[in-house]
Amino acid sequence: GSLSIRCSPDGDRDVDHERDKSGERVLTNRQGHPIVNNQSQRTVGARGPATLENYQFLEKITHFDRERIPERVVHARGFVCYGTFEATGKIGDEPASKYTRAKLFQSAGKETPLAIRFSTVIGGRDSSEVARDPRGFAVKLYTEDGNWDIVGNNLAVFFIRDAIKFPDVIHSLKPDPVTFRQEPNRIFDFMSQTPESMHMLTHLFSPRGIPANYRHMEGFGVNTYKMVNAAGDTVLVKYHFHPRCGVACLTAEEAAKVQGQDLGSASKDLFEAIERGDYPQWDMFVQIMDDHDHPELDWDPLDDTKTWPEDQFPLRHIGVMTLNRNVEDQHTESEQIAMGTGVLVDGLDFSDDKMLVGRTFSYSDTQRYRVGTNYLQIPVNQAKNAAVATNLNGGQMSYRRDLAEGQNPHVNFEPSIHNGLSEADRDEPNNPPEIHGRLTRSVIERRNDYVQARARYNTMMDWERDDLITNMGVLLSQCERDVKERMLWHFFLVHDDYGARVADKLGMSLADVSGLEPLPKQVLTEEDQRRLKSLG
Ligand code: HEM
Repeated sequence: GSLSIRCSPDGDRDVDHERDKSGERVLTNRQGHPIVNNQSQRTVGARGPATLENYQFLEKITHFDRERIPERVVHARGFVCYGTFEATGKIGDEPASKYTRAKLFQSAGKETPLAIRFSTVIGGRDSSEVARDPRGFAVKLYTEDGNWDIVGNNLAVFFIRDAIKFPDVIHSLKPDPVTFRQEPNRIFDFMSQTPESMHMLTHLFSPRGIPANYRHMEGFGVNTYKMVNAAGDTVLVKYHFHPRCGVACLTAEEAAKVQGQDLGSASKDLFEAIERGDYPQWDMFVQIMDDHDHPELDWDPLDDTKTWPEDQFPLRHIGVMTLNRNVEDQHTESEQIAMGTGVLVDGLDFSDDKMLVGRTFSYSDTQRYRVGTNYLQIPVNQAKNAAVATNLNGGQMSYRRDLAEGQNPHVNFEPSIHNGLSEADRDEPNNPPEIHGRLTRSVIERRNDYVQARARYNTMMDWERDDLITNMGVLLSQCERDVKERMLWHFFLVHDDYGARVADKLGMSLADVSGLEPLPKQVLTEEDQRRLKSLG
């Protein structure tokens, strides 16, 4: 299962390189013309003026002018490496085939090569890798059924549960459009009006919000997916990766020190570990639920602000991921790799999670803009273990046709009776539940925005809670009074102690917020209402 990222497309370049007198390979331009002088432009006389017909100079400088592509709109700073996924052949104690027909999971020891890109979310391409920020954990598996991407994060939940709010949450977290500074007041202005973000914020401001590096962190698919077995029956599924070397985090002070020396500390750690043969590994698990809406739960299985409690939905081991090979070129691999939640293989499927559906549109859309129409022909994005044969034709930077062997090259349409491509002769069953409904714009009914934040707060160790309170205090103290009040009000609804301790950091108390009404359109559970009353 080795994959060569550098390989050029079919059959070019078996020409020997010209060598100079000392045997060094000769520099050429992209036309294959040897470069004799790379030090001086061509000029009329030794002191100029310069001439404009100088192809060599023009190629060099115009290419330089175009070296950057737009950075990712989120997750701009990241780092790629490669490895393999080894299946157990099982899902927990049961054969994998009980839940999915995806080939990569079917037999014990089956290896699938993969690329992974770790990232931070909010900073630009050269920003700090120890910022308080979620970390991206995006895996591209080159399976025999074609590519499968799991575009995950290191925290199990997210700020919002409907994709239509994504540009807003990101705008609030990104720099102010006027001052270009990340402003706590903007962040918490948005979050204070978004009660579903309390669970994510409670994770993000705890020590988990600054992973020590990319090796010592977990990965989560976050959104709810499906698996489909050979009979076409579906289950809901969540993906988890646990690092074998354990989880490690930094406090804000530790991070400040690291950042003072090195913005790229996490990439460096990963690169060096792989160089010295200390290959990081993660165990992969899934959680499984029957495919229906689970009215017995007081939260919705399609809500990505919720985790699935592991006592009710146990983690089932499914394989091991090992990273063992470093990137060779940042641009062609890390910048141009393109992953998305829509990239699934047979035996895996989407759920109706309203974030997931929106994400699935967004990834390939941005990649067509950011990398270009033919982004899937770039080596790191090509299917490595499945043949590609399409009638997609043309577009900028297309450098070959996706022809099948022996296919009539004149036929780039389907159907054709003259040796073109035809549909796969497969009839795999698919029996997802039937859904009926009117078109609507609705929020998830079972919101229960505070319950899991409370559970998280309760299970933190004392030092984690101390760190959470300190971190919240530092940012909230930079916010305006109305934002502070509303955030405190949410914290009191999550937990008396959480509210009281953050209030204390801000020189405030329960009395400052007890008169606040719920947000317009906010739906409180009975438990929330009881708590609200008890706050006075
Ligand atoms: C990257 C959109 C939520 C994880 C991106 C990119 C976009 C995007 C446009 C840039 C992709 C590129 O340029 O290649 C969205 C939208 C979301 C959403 C619209 C919500 C509706 C999430 C969530 C997670 C996540 C919940 C975590 C599970 C990632 C990761 C990357 C990424 C890991 C970086 C992928 C890479 O390294 O190339 N997202 N995202 N996103 N997103 Fe999201």
